[in-house]
Amino acid sequence: MNYLESCKVKLPDLAAKDQVRILAIESSCDETAAAVVENGRTILSNAVFTQIDLHALYGGVVPEIASRAHVEKVDRMVDRALKDAGMALADVDAIAVTYGPGLVGALLVGVSCAKALAFAANKPLVPVNHIEGHICANFLTHPDLQPPFACLVVSGGHSHLFSVEDYGVFRILGQTQDDAAGEAFDKAARVLNIPYPGGPLLDRLAESGDPHALKLPRPKTEGRYDYSFSGLKTAFINAVHNARQKGEALNDADLAASFRAAVVSFLVDKAMLAAEELNLPRMALAGGVSANSLLRREMEQACRKRGIQLYMPALNLCGDNAAMIGSAAYYHLLRGDIAGLELNARPALRL
Ligand code: KG4
Ligand code: ZN
Repeated sequence: MNYLESCKVKLPDLAAKDQVRILAIESSCDETAAAVVENGRTILSNAVFTQIDLHALYGGVVPEIASRAHVEKVDRMVDRALKDAGMALADVDAIAVTYGPGLVGALLVGVSCAKALAFAANKPLVPVNHIEGHICANFLTHPDLQPPFACLVVSGGHSHLFSVEDYGVFRILGQTQDDAAGEAFDKAARVLNIPYPGGPLLDRLAESGDPHALKLPRPKTEGRYDYSFSGLKTAFINAVHNARQKGEALNDADLAASFRAAVVSFLVDKAMLAAEELNLPRMALAGGVSANSLLRREMEQACRKRGIQLYMPALNLCGDNAAMIGSAAYYHLLRGDIAGLELNARPALRL
């Protein structure tokens, strides 16, 4: 029996187990992470090494540097995740890994490591879509949450409104036509000389600013529930440059607050339009930008007003981590979605 066949034979026993523990690895961008998750819902350990300091110098993620840092850190993160969970590799039931979307060189490090571990320990290998992982961060925070629900995924690379119809079954309701929300935050932050990744710092600065100080356009999109951030970003950058050229004194906190308010009201209004027109009683947030304090407050208010049940990931699970990958993997493992050793990175993988 080859590796994959021997794993398939184990699946019925695994599905019948009370406690299924998955070791998950995430390396799609600039976080090297490993975690152990039980039954898709309980975090036994969650180790994250963030490479932010390595990339801040260049104002963005440098793929070559990211890949090399993943190579250096991935074993250590796996060791730490197992140790923190009080487990050995032999004790876990499966190995999960993000295989896309993301930077190809970065993804390959996690995929290669997961394949080696899965083969050496003769455990099933579960490939996970990174965006699905972000959505599943909600399962770790809300043990009662089950599909169907709608989910607004806003990260550095993606801005999508999904209908989560079942575990692992998604339908796109709307998506950005250009930049992702996180990317827009990072670029707006850059003109304010905020270091990479600017989103979290811009968010903090905005707390003390006046959101009405700078008027920004409302983006237009073709699809009713689609997004677009590139025009908003350009309008913001032009306004800042023009004012500087004219020698006008601008307050950075006011600028940050104005930009944040424009992005957030656009995100919330479209999500609420979809919720009302498509009759969506439950809505979740996911992705790095779901840590944005105004987005969380405005979504809470908008959902409360309409009687929509809102779910948000815990703050430490909004950004990239491996626990969310371990959650998504559990539901795939139960359905027998496992891979052989030919698994490859898929940088442009879609959900
Ligand atoms: O999900 P994530 O960690 O990585 C991707 O899959 O892209 O998202 C990272 C993005 C970055 O653009 C970062 O600036 C943004 O999320 N972000 C924020 C906040 N925290 C992280 N944007 C706005 N406000 C925040 N508080
Ligand atoms: Zn992410």
